[in-house]
Amino acid sequence: MSLVEMNNIHKRFGEVVALRGVDFELDDNEVVGLIGDNGAGKSTLIKILSGVFPLTEGEFYVKGQRINPNRYSVREAHGLGIETVYQERALGVKQSLWRNVFLGRQPANRLGFINVKEARQETETIMRDFLGFTGGGVSPDSKIRTLSGGERQGVAIGRAMYFEADLVVLDEPTNALSVKEVGKVLNFIRQVKERGKSCVYISHTIANIYPVSDRFVILDRGAVVGEYERKSISESELVDVLTHHAVKAEQESRTPPRDD
Ligand SMILES: Nc1ncnc2c1ncn2[C@@H]1O[C@H](COP(=O)(O)OP(=O)(O)O)[C@@H](O)[C@H]1O
Ligand SMILES: [Mg+2]
Repeated sequence: MSLVEMNNIHKRFGEVVALRGVDFELDDNEVVGLIGDNGAGKSTLIKILSGVFPLTEGEFYVKGQRINPNRYSVREAHGLGIETVYQERALGVKQSLWRNVFLGRQPANRLGFINVKEARQETETIMRDFLGFTGGGVSPDSKIRTLSGGERQGVAIGRAMYFEADLVVLDEPTNALSVKEVGKVLNFIRQVKERGKSCVYISHTIANIYPVSDRFVILDRGAVVGEYERKSISESELVDVLTHHAVKAEQESRTPPRDD
């Protein structure tokens, strides 16, 4: 049984067709690199998987459980062990770090009120053990807007680790991370793999994706156009394949539609 099985997924936003019949599978303890040009549909696919958007057509299963598209939500995805670190910073920028870590799932006391003390302490632990924030002015009460892009990504990753997600989805930020920050993300993916969990990693940078992925799935204009096991393709061959698709897409966008 696959961890995730998505069949014939279509997604339209009004006139825009973002996905046109995508099949996507993910095994237990597998890291998949999801690649493709801007607008290929990568973020849309993982947003359907993590309960942000409903699909237009198709079906999918998580841990063998058929997902009811009318009821599926981010909360339900969390319940199934899916944690997503979004490209756009989904973190509330005006909020404190600790509120963010426990967003939507605050540790509550007997009366159901949020246990602030415990949330702060746990955040402190996450910062120290998972994020390597030591000293340096960042505290559980720091506002998210005072953190760098990489630190924000780190908070989201820390959240995924803390809740021991079975599947972590990483949609790489469009703004470049520093070399050190990229290193942290890659280490995190390696840890996910070592713990027997799974990961979908979206990145433009093949040099980052290549060493940590077991398999690559290439999306082009809403369709899967290639799938490769890492052991069957070298990094430079993968770059060539992507270049080939990019050139083809470019040519097709310049070719006027034929009348015949
Ligand atoms: N919320 C949305 N509303 C309308 N169109 C969208 C929305 N999200 C994505 N799209 C469109 O869907 C297509 C795929 O986008 P996306 O999944 O973000 O691609 P990628 O992540 O591969 O760059 C694009 O044409 C994009 O403009
Ligand atoms: Mg995207």
